[in-house]
Amino acid sequence: QLKGVVLVGGPSKSTQFRPLSTDTPKPLFPIAGIPMVQHHVIALAKLKNMKEIIILGFFEDAIWERFFEKLKIEFSHIKIRYLREYQALGTGGGLYHVRDDILKGNPDHVFVLNADIASSFPLESMLAFHRQRKAVSTLLGIHIDRPQVHEYGHVVTNADTREVLHIVEKPETSISDLISCGVYLFNKQVFDVMTEAIAKRRPKPIEAGEEEENSRGINSDKVRLEPDVLNLLAADKKLYVYVCDTKREFWMHIKTGDSAVLANKLYLQWFIKNAPGRLFMAPRSSIDVVDSPKAENTAEVIQPASIHPTATIHPSARLGPNVSVGPGVVIGCGVHITDSIILENVEIKNDSCVLNALIGWDSKVGSCSRVEGILEEGTVLKNVDDDVVILGETPPTTSRRRIVIQIESMNTDSKKYILNVPVLQYGTAKFFTLHDAR
Ligand code: GDD
Ligand code: GTP
Repeated sequence: QLKGVVLVGGPSKSTQFRPLSTDTPKPLFPIAGIPMVQHHVIALAKLKNMKEIIILGFFEDAIWERFFEKLKIEFSHIKIRYLREYQALGTGGGLYHVRDDILKGNPDHVFVLNADIASSFPLESMLAFHRQRKAVSTLLGIHIDRPQVHEYGHVVTNADTREVLHIVEKPETSISDLISCGVYLFNKQVFDVMTEAIAKRRPKPIEAGEEEENSRGINSDKVRLEPDVLNLLAADKKLYVYVCDTKREFWMHIKTGDSAVLANKLYLQWFIKNAPGRLFMAPRSSIDVVDSPKAENTAEVIQPASIHPTATIHPSARLGPNVSVGPGVVIGCGVHITDSIILENVEIKNDSCVLNALIGWDSKVGSCSRVEGILEEGTVLKNVDDDVVILGETPPTTSRRRIVIQIESMNTDSKKYILNVPVLQYGTAKFFTLHDAR
């Protein structure tokens, strides 16, 4: 039998995702119409003999209630529960802490998935590869063109056998174009290796003059998977890499708001080919699908799109492809939306256009506005001229490469920017997160 664990971290993490994760925990942020980690649960639940899925993190228990209620209905045949670490123990330390729960029932294999990734999750192929090699542990790897070195664990392998020689976690210069995807498959022997890793990290005996934090041994059991555990496995020749076939599968990590927009697009496109039932639609009286004869009084929807049944869409609006529309959204006449996430209770007024953007909870986009973002980092929007218009105030804050501007009212000065993740709701104020176009 199989078990699955999803590592969700806790409220102190996901800083790059703020302010999107200020009110909603990042693992529950909706992508393609469902919470980010529901995609993980779907992938795990599809595996034959999957007995239990554990969501592991250090969030309050209460945040999961609504999510678990929904999961119980869809996945009634699998036990799904949340286990909480008393503090951040690290990706390996957390697993070690709950090892008795994981090992209960004596599972043959355990899948461990980072929450902050979007993927088609080729778990079945990974399992077959793992069994064939009689491996103790296998990780999912992917070749990337331009390794953003600081963001990933770089994997060095024997190209013939796919045995991992070592992993360098977030190196300063590129070591390999093969990176760890944050998807792992373990046999139970991995916990012996973790015991070893933890022993290595025990605090030294208290010595005079040492910093208080060290001397009290805080975080002494924070053990990370790549550098602490997987490298020990690699040294023992017990770690293999299954390389993701990018012609058939997709993988990306979700760190910033703009990566959520791209993840939304990839999941929707995956659904249309592999799980069309997941694309849920508003009642046919209010919208229509582009392939069928266009009935009167229906808006045009170009698939793939996920539209909540409680959204109200004007018949003259045009949505899609790659659009997710949340509950209670109101879309006015003549509005065009593509490649975007529109969150709960947003109102988009008449004749506005939203492209490559993320419109946050309860935001209002004024009439005739154009909200346009860039999907891939590093690409520059051509022909910006006058048509990138945001209704808002001058930026009060500059943080790294992004600017956050606070919107006081919807109809003040028009300013020109290249948008990154436009319009986020934070408390009662509204924010745009954007690239500085100057
Ligand atoms: N339960 C629990 N406890 N979960 C944790 C903890 C912890 O202490 N720390 C992190 N996580 C969760 C995070 O919420 C996230 O979903 C996942 O584990 C990965 O943790 P990060 O610390 O965000 O790592 P990363 O994404 O920067 O890097 C990892 O993933 C990359 C692929 O996306 C590494 O494994 C890299 O090697 C890898 O390339
Ligand atoms: P971003 O800020 O969006 O990158 O979120 P994050 O989830 O990566 O965490 P954060 O920025 O708070 O921390 C930066 C890095 O420090 C993370 O990517 C982790 O590698 C590490 N880190 C921070 N807190 C923890 C923790 O509790 N456990 C472990 N294992 N690593 C942590």
